[in-house]
Amino acid sequence: MNSLPNSDLMYFSFNFDAMNNAKHILVTGGAGYIGSHTVVQLIESGYTPVIVDDLRNAHAKSLDGIKKITGKEIIHQPIDVCDLTALEKVFSNYSFEGIIHFAAYKAVGESVEQPLKYYRNNILGLVNVLELAQKFNVKNIVFSSSCTVYGEPENEKVVTENSPIQIANSPYGNTKQIGEEIIQDFIKSGVDCKILNLRYFNPVGAHPSSIIGEFPLGKPNNLMPVITQTAVGKLPKITVFGNDYDTIDGTCVRDYIHVMDVAEAHVKGINWLKNQDKSLVEQLNIGTGKGTSVLELINTFEEISGQKLNWEFGPRRSGDVVEIFADVTKMLNLMNWKPNRTAKDAVIDAWNWEQKLTNDKK
Ligand code: UD1
Repeated sequence: MNSLPNSDLMYFSFNFDAMNNAKHILVTGGAGYIGSHTVVQLIESGYTPVIVDDLRNAHAKSLDGIKKITGKEIIHQPIDVCDLTALEKVFSNYSFEGIIHFAAYKAVGESVEQPLKYYRNNILGLVNVLELAQKFNVKNIVFSSSCTVYGEPENEKVVTENSPIQIANSPYGNTKQIGEEIIQDFIKSGVDCKILNLRYFNPVGAHPSSIIGEFPLGKPNNLMPVITQTAVGKLPKITVFGNDYDTIDGTCVRDYIHVMDVAEAHVKGINWLKNQDKSLVEQLNIGTGKGTSVLELINTFEEISGQKLNWEFGPRRSGDVVEIFADVTKMLNLMNWKPNRTAKDAVIDAWNWEQKLTNDKK
């Protein structure tokens, strides 16, 4: 048989997909924390995710975990989303029904020290994804945004999607604001595309199987992994940043949402987008609607684990928002999504996951 030119090979790949009715979804950052949980739920909902992740900020074990949970082979392309040429090859090889764009840096403190690293990766990655979506006619896109766009809410601590956007208090936060603005301009240009900006509050927890979860590389910044790593002795103690805030107990209040609920929101989002005819962009809060203070989360952990944690009060962390939680009515009304798990469920799953990680290392 004569060898085929590349374009013919691509053609066969399209037809093969059509024959199999494979519903490919591009998931950038699909080996990461929220990405891996979303990939599992996409597979369980009949989609075939194509993970683009160069693993710079994720663990290859997540990919094994996804395979173990779902029993399916994983499509993984170890590509940097900022590499337009490499990314374009992926778009050429699949006919995507949708894109979920997670790939981005997310450490607030690091973004203050290395702003350009954040602007390059988070902005260029998004621009590349949008450019290729337009070129290859992919119409359904979910973008990872953050409640950080609300900054410190002025009056109400519970924010709706119409609450004012505040000046970002970190370059990381600014990349999310700019990302949303780029998407607004993209849609305004008349492009035939539908986009959801999902504004996550504080995703925590792990898959209930304890096969995948959060793999913080290096010392964690976020509260939940700090709690569980202190409990197993990886960290000596927890410093609670500030005890004199005007909140229920003087510590900051956040909306901790189970990562499985966050993942479900993405699948609902893709399903909903597919049923929309016209170009659109929607902002949506992804939280529980319930605020939990730092001390409340520590107490919940102690109750569940039956273990006293070594913690102490320290100074306030610069740039911290005092109190914020989500109004999630819009997600409920628009796509009948609501969180099915509590912060306590998330603590249980995060704790099981940390113990599994620790036992695996022994
Ligand atoms: C922030 C952003 C969020 C972003 C996330 C990425 C806001 C409101 N949230 O989350 O959008 O996606 O960063 O990492 O801007 N804490 C301690 N001790 C610790 C660690 C944390 O007391 O060792 C406290 C913090 O002061 C805060 C709470 O725990 O009050 C949660 O902190 P963290 O898990 O880092 O999340 P956010 O700062 O809320």
